[in-house]
Amino acid sequence: MTTPTRPPRTSLIARMRPLWPYFGAYTGTWAIVMLGAMIGAATEPLIPAMFKLLLDLGFQKHTLELWTVPVVLLSIFGVRGLAGYVSQIGLSRITNQGLMVMRRAMFNKLLVAHMQLFSDQSSSALSNSIVYETQNGASMLVNSLLSLTRNALTLVALTGYLLYLNWKLTLIVIAVFPAVAWVMRVLTARLHSLTKASQDATDSLAYVVEENVLAHRDIRMYSAQASQAKRFDQLGDSLQRLAMKSTVAGAAMTPMTQMLAAMALSTVISVALVQSAAADTSVGGFVAFVTAMLMIIAPIRQLSEVSGPITRGLAALERGLNLIEDVPRETQGAFSKPRACGEIEFRDVVVQYGAPDSAPVINRLSLSIHGGETVAFVGASGAGKSTLVNLLPRFVDLRSGQILVDGHDVGDWDLHALRAQFAFVSQHVIMLNDSIAANVALGMVLQRDKVLACLTAANLGALVTDLPQGIDTVVGHNAMQLSGGQRQRLAIARALYKDAPILILDEATSALDTESERAVQDALQGLMHNRTTLVIAHRLSTVMHATRIVTMEAGQIVETGTHEDLIQRNGHYARLYQIGLGLNNTPGT
Ligand SMILES: Nc1ncnc2c1ncn2[C@@H]1O[C@H](COP(=O)(O)OP(=O)(O)OP(=O)(O)O)[C@@H](O)[C@H]1O
Ligand SMILES: [Mg+2]
Repeated sequence: MTTPTRPPRTSLIARMRPLWPYFGAYTGTWAIVMLGAMIGAATEPLIPAMFKLLLDLGFQKHTLELWTVPVVLLSIFGVRGLAGYVSQIGLSRITNQGLMVMRRAMFNKLLVAHMQLFSDQSSSALSNSIVYETQNGASMLVNSLLSLTRNALTLVALTGYLLYLNWKLTLIVIAVFPAVAWVMRVLTARLHSLTKASQDATDSLAYVVEENVLAHRDIRMYSAQASQAKRFDQLGDSLQRLAMKSTVAGAAMTPMTQMLAAMALSTVISVALVQSAAADTSVGGFVAFVTAMLMIIAPIRQLSEVSGPITRGLAALERGLNLIEDVPRETQGAFSKPRACGEIEFRDVVVQYGAPDSAPVINRLSLSIHGGETVAFVGASGAGKSTLVNLLPRFVDLRSGQILVDGHDVGDWDLHALRAQFAFVSQHVIMLNDSIAANVALGMVLQRDKVLACLTAANLGALVTDLPQGIDTVVGHNAMQLSGGQRQRLAIARALYKDAPILILDEATSALDTESERAVQDALQGLMHNRTTLVIAHRLSTVMHATRIVTMEAGQIVETGTHEDLIQRNGHYARLYQIGLGLNNTPGT
């Protein structure tokens, strides 16, 4: 499954409609902004009108009072300035509030999105969409909408004034409009596709940076800098080429519309000159007409340029909409209970990653586990152990078969209730860049005494007492300030804190030394008591305590039994045992 993309909508209005819930909520503010734009536009024809009066009355008839000139000029520009100022502020409010609402919706979707999203899109692409694209898109779109409105209104006002002055000449001006519209449409379509391509290229670039930051040590260790720099350059190069293409398309718009405007202008001036020779047009009337004509070029040009930012802004925001509306949520049922007994049943489970014809990773596996039982899973790397346990909290989807927890299909459970039943120490520990206490009590009410008790049980007590800020110490990005084993023990403390009915330990103690493991083992042993426990381990000390050992190979169960049974059977488990499992441990711990 790939993330569905919304079908291309041709009309800009139709494409903007889904954004209305985010940016349209402040109707009052919009009204003020529009009023400001209208007032601003209405003041435009006043300037040529003033010229007309100045020339006809002031210069020719000398009947104009001198004091009126500064009063009128200052009034026009005062009103105009105030209207612009208010619109600008209103618009910024609309943009920022809308941005906040949209970002929140995107982030909320991220929290409940189907897990497939995280295989389809890299973290940099997602953070790019939520953080930067929305920001740029919103300010571009909203600003250009204001520009559109202001210029369209100015155009109407000036055209109205022109019609009033000389309707025949004005018709010539109007004839230019369809040509301008056509130029805009053609170039807009091209800009849109270029924008989408550069979004993708930017994502790839960000991804390379992300990876290089993540793997900065490996890159240095294996002297891979040159190849990484080349990778970056190639992407940077294609991004630069796309940006140039975009500029070429965008830049063509201005001269083309200006040429059309110049054509109209030259015709108008010639006709007006002929007209003025024949009829008795006043000098003021002619100057006013030409001034208004020249003033009309600015809004036309700006209108022709506005489609670029609108298209770019829309494309950026549509990515956000895509995330909010089109990315599916995790599905769930309604069954819920506060605390499960911990009965688990796998029925004919098949899991395939990727294409439907790929080899199954779990192949028709059936297994039932009683409440309170401790089952250990052993098997070669890649046998499917992690996949199997990840099926339970529905981190992985089934291809076919069924999984029941307490007799209810995991798909019928309410997800929140289902996941509340598991304390999971995964193979790859991930910590948040927060305090130790917040990491341990993740998602639950923070009780400092309980946090300390869990840390002590996880054999982290000494470390925490040594830290100047104790459990309030911030652990850094993915707890990089802790050692691998400390991180693992922190994850165990988190599992202890959650105190859930089903405990899953996926190589939870693999990074610990024998002594440390033994200390943690006691705490885990206490935790396993009266609780269903699924434990994946390569060490005998953990496996030995299991009521049952399940040996897996290529996604199937090949043997089950206790340690003694399986050793006696001298099959897969016995072989694993001989070649490594438990070699660094003394049996019986
Ligand atoms: N997200 C994934 N996408 C595609 N294939 C995957 C994914 N995760 C695991 N696999 C494949 O599934 C198989 C089983 O992986 P799994 O992690 O379950 O093995 P494992 O038994 O836990 O191994 P290990 O002991 O090394 O942790 C492997 O062949 C692996 O390549
Ligand atoms: Mg694994």
